[in-house]
Amino acid sequence: MTDLLAPFTLRGRTFRNRLWVPAMCLYSVEARDGVPTDFHLAHYGARVAGGYGLVVSEATAVVPEGRITPYDAGLWSDAQGAAWARIAALAHRLGGAFGVQLAHAGRKASTWPGWPGQPSGAVAVEEGGWRTVAPSATAFPGLPAPHALTIEEIGAVVRAFASAARRAAEADVDVVEVHAAHGYLLHQFLSPLSNQRTDRYGGSLENRLRLPLEVAEAVRAGWPDDRPLFVRLSATDWLPGGWDLDQSCVLARELAARGVDLIDVSSGGLLPAPIDPVPGYQVPFARRLRAEGVPTAAVGLITDPAHAAAIVAAGDADAVLMGREALRNPSLPLHLAAERGDVTWVPPQYRRAWPG
Ligand SMILES: Cc1cc2nc3c(=O)[nH]c(=O)nc-3n(C[C@H](O)[C@H](O)[C@H](O)COP(=O)(O)O)c2cc1C
Repeated sequence: MTDLLAPFTLRGRTFRNRLWVPAMCLYSVEARDGVPTDFHLAHYGARVAGGYGLVVSEATAVVPEGRITPYDAGLWSDAQGAAWARIAALAHRLGGAFGVQLAHAGRKASTWPGWPGQPSGAVAVEEGGWRTVAPSATAFPGLPAPHALTIEEIGAVVRAFASAARRAAEADVDVVEVHAAHGYLLHQFLSPLSNQRTDRYGGSLENRLRLPLEVAEAVRAGWPDDRPLFVRLSATDWLPGGWDLDQSCVLARELAARGVDLIDVSSGGLLPAPIDPVPGYQVPFARRLRAEGVPTAAVGLITDPAHAAAIVAAGDADAVLMGREALRNPSLPLHLAAERGDVTWVPPQYRRAWPG
């Protein structure tokens, strides 16, 4: 039985354990230039210092118009690359690993963060917003209609993902994760509920898979062979006639054939849907995709370390991501290790605070 705190190797990277932090938007780039700030360094650094085996960045846009909000981080410029390099270097000094989630929000871009007491919905162009893009000119409910990408513009999206991956490699990031979940651009191409194209990027399953597969191939080509590539999927739209688990299995096999090393298995986000989120509600999806022969990470309302350990021990997933729990508890893995009398991951600066 695999232990939650056992190391895990993919290609040339060994994660010190299997308890990881997933991508979580911080909406904290106040300069609106996509350059990660001191807040990002402190936030990610704290969680690496707290012992998580891998910390993944917020959804990081590959082009400016791919940002969910004007306050998102990006990876299309040298200044952004340099800021990510600083964070990756800190993660390595702390003995951890750092991943960047590469993203394009498509028709769900150009919104306000929607923090309590602050505006939500679309950011108007005169307030610094922009015209969004998507496979088809169909709006997400409550947001403006996007521009349907031309074939040439789709090619530019593929090149933008590849170029961001090359910058991530230069920044010495350990993992790149392509965000193809939660109703953002690549998921919008996958789902028949958002993709009404009649060209080679729409219609049949083969056509709807085309853009995510082209992105995976281009990213793999620009990303060193010794570093792992992840893809985050929504395993289902939770809606009749939408993207579902059987289609996800086909996609997972095709991604693995193109050098994708792990599927990070989430769900939903394409359109409002009836979801009943109970602890571990997405774990059965991770189990099913793993049965296709692709390593997986499970995520979604997993807050109890015993639950996380049981998921890994049962072979339902190779790793577990804790999102909101990691916001509340940046040092959870250190506590678990210390309970076993093993304080190897405790940074020397904090060593006197831990028994053993
Ligand atoms: C504040 C916040 C921001 C998030 N931002 C992202 C994101 O940028 N990319 C992504 O794939 N998922 C994002 N998510 C989803 C999380 O990665 C995770 O899948 C979700 O919170 C469920 O896990 P949890 O129950 O452990 O929090 C976000 C979640 C939260 C709470």
